[in-house]
Amino acid sequence: MVERNGPDRDASAPTGSPHSPPPSFIEQANVTEPALHETFERNWPNCWTRAADLLSWDEEYETVLEDEDAPFYRWFADGRLNASYNCLDRHLESGRKNHAAIRWEGKRGERRTYTYRDLYVEVNEFAAALRDLGVEEDDVVTIYLPMIPELPIAMLACARIGAPHSVVFAGLSADALATRMDAAESEYLVTCDGYYRRGDAFNQKSKADNARIGLEQDVQTVVVDRLGDDLPHVLGENECDYHDLRETFAGETVEPVSRDAEDMLFLMYTSGTTGEPKGVVHSTGGYLAHVAWTSRAVLDVKPDDTYWCAADIGWITGHSYIVYGPLALGTTTVMYEGTPDYPDRDRLWEIVDRNAVDIFYTAPTAIRAFMKWGTDYPSRYDLSSLRLLGTVGEPISPRPWNWYREHIGGGDCPVVDTWWQTETGAVTISTLPGIDEMKPGSAGPPLPGIDVRVVDEAGEEVEPGQTGYLTIGRPWPGMARTLYDNDDRFVTEYWRRFSDPDAVNRQLTSPHSTESREDADDWRYFSGDTARVDEDGYITVLGRVDDVINVSGHRLGTMEIESAIADVDGVAETAVVGRSSGTGDTEIYAYVSTESGHDSDAVIQRSILDNIESAIGPIARPEAVIFTPELPKTRSGKIMRRLLEDVANGEELGDTSALRNPEIVGEIQAEIADEG
Ligand code: WTA
Repeated sequence: MVERNGPDRDASAPTGSPHSPPPSFIEQANVTEPALHETFERNWPNCWTRAADLLSWDEEYETVLEDEDAPFYRWFADGRLNASYNCLDRHLESGRKNHAAIRWEGKRGERRTYTYRDLYVEVNEFAAALRDLGVEEDDVVTIYLPMIPELPIAMLACARIGAPHSVVFAGLSADALATRMDAAESEYLVTCDGYYRRGDAFNQKSKADNARIGLEQDVQTVVVDRLGDDLPHVLGENECDYHDLRETFAGETVEPVSRDAEDMLFLMYTSGTTGEPKGVVHSTGGYLAHVAWTSRAVLDVKPDDTYWCAADIGWITGHSYIVYGPLALGTTTVMYEGTPDYPDRDRLWEIVDRNAVDIFYTAPTAIRAFMKWGTDYPSRYDLSSLRLLGTVGEPISPRPWNWYREHIGGGDCPVVDTWWQTETGAVTISTLPGIDEMKPGSAGPPLPGIDVRVVDEAGEEVEPGQTGYLTIGRPWPGMARTLYDNDDRFVTEYWRRFSDPDAVNRQLTSPHSTESREDADDWRYFSGDTARVDEDGYITVLGRVDDVINVSGHRLGTMEIESAIADVDGVAETAVVGRSSGTGDTEIYAYVSTESGHDSDAVIQRSILDNIESAIGPIARPEAVIFTPELPKTRSGKIMRRLLEDVANGEELGDTSALRNPEIVGEIQAEIADEG
């Protein structure tokens, strides 16, 4: 039995009737070999050269996989390449310089198109500027920008000079930015004056300024002027203006630095089971190969497509499927700065229509919102250009899946439900739309070459229909290489639970030792998710087992939120859980007991909300703060978070008599009933 089913209980509904992609789709699909899964299986790990061969290498790799130092795997390790060369220069060389690379749609209706040539020019100029500021190979550059073209430009400029980027989601707070810059010892920051939030000018630079105050290192900052006169700003010491730099370095080009395949391309901080965010390290070769391959095989991206992944580049989905995957394939990627409902709820469909978007990729939370808003909005536009739809980020149950296919996809678009994580780098479970049929409510089989197994507590595979832990047995090219500066935590967080204990111990006690290792089969990656598998091997992902909750596609650690609450004067104890709303979205519920034992306290409530906003950002604001004289505890004094989650979700509770304070449960239930 598994501890928890995660917040989207709706996803445990049975899968809906299967749909086969229409013949017209299959005829044109990139990948259609019916026996692809078997071919990959037979040739593993060499099958992954298919992915690597989508890239241009400065030096060809000889070895595909090195697994001696598991779980620190190395892919294509003796090859050399540059990611920005792969996303830019080679498309210029193949005569596609006037092809649109990025179509940017601004929040206020502004539009900018960058051809591959335009993007190449601007990336080169900014790469030259970064070098001039002192950025050297392997220096971590932090990027704190909203969805404006300068964001992917800065990423590619870093990649060009071999400086790993660490993009921090623009909506995160000053504290969150400071923590990440501190952890990565980053001395360079690219940010902006501000951005528009629902039409209002919002100050980003003041957050960046506050973040820098607490840092030990000096930071060189580049500021992009997004708002002009709407939000005048002055530049201080160690700050320069992005557009001035471009003028200074106009027309300059920078040779792309040849990187080892295993060199870090970027760092992405994500939430984990403890309060401290984890810096997930991604490689250059394996990562880029995997995102290019999945863009081609799963999202069916072709160079002449207009492809739109409506995510934020501040998270992994945007890195892999707005920037690196599509640009490596030379396609046109749409980038949208705004929200789906501003100025009206038809905004996305207007963009699809005007740009004749071929492929659209978004999150279930958005699809549920579209469904709620009704068919009137999409029906105002011609969406017939769409050939394929995708979803990512959370479980999607059959109803919104079918609605999406019907009302956005015109009834016959294949829908790929792609399961993956910041740590997997790229898609790892999904149907292949040129090969597989789709079952609404199930992500599908593991991708060819990926060894996903749903296992019980003891690591044994569970029977079809049973719930278990989602694990991955063999390495894959896009996988995280480690956690920044913390190899131990990489092993303990992801590998310890289901790998051979001797192998784990050896790696922890004599890290990276050269003595011969046991079989690579000893190692098994644990995703933190639970899942169920059906007779055909299709996997339905149910949710997280750990203290991570997924709120509108933002991955948040309950521990991070709890520590922001615990900081408030007067708070004694707190527990934060996810609650599934009526529409299937996850909301944050915070339980709080105060030192004075008062049932509720308006001043404390206000400080809690303020503290969360300043420690993490508005995305982590709880839907409800429930004051209670005590939190329910086991006799050994552990807070029963799982029980609190069940209470928030209105679930039947099991036997609570083993609690130290069972009477409190009824009180909390009454409190929640009042809230509702
Ligand atoms: C969840 C986002 C069900 C899952 C790419 C995972 C999903 C976490 C799906 C990673 C899906 C992602 N079906 N659940 N198709 N895709 N998830 O790191 O719980 O932001 O562990 O990466 O999102 O979130 P992350």
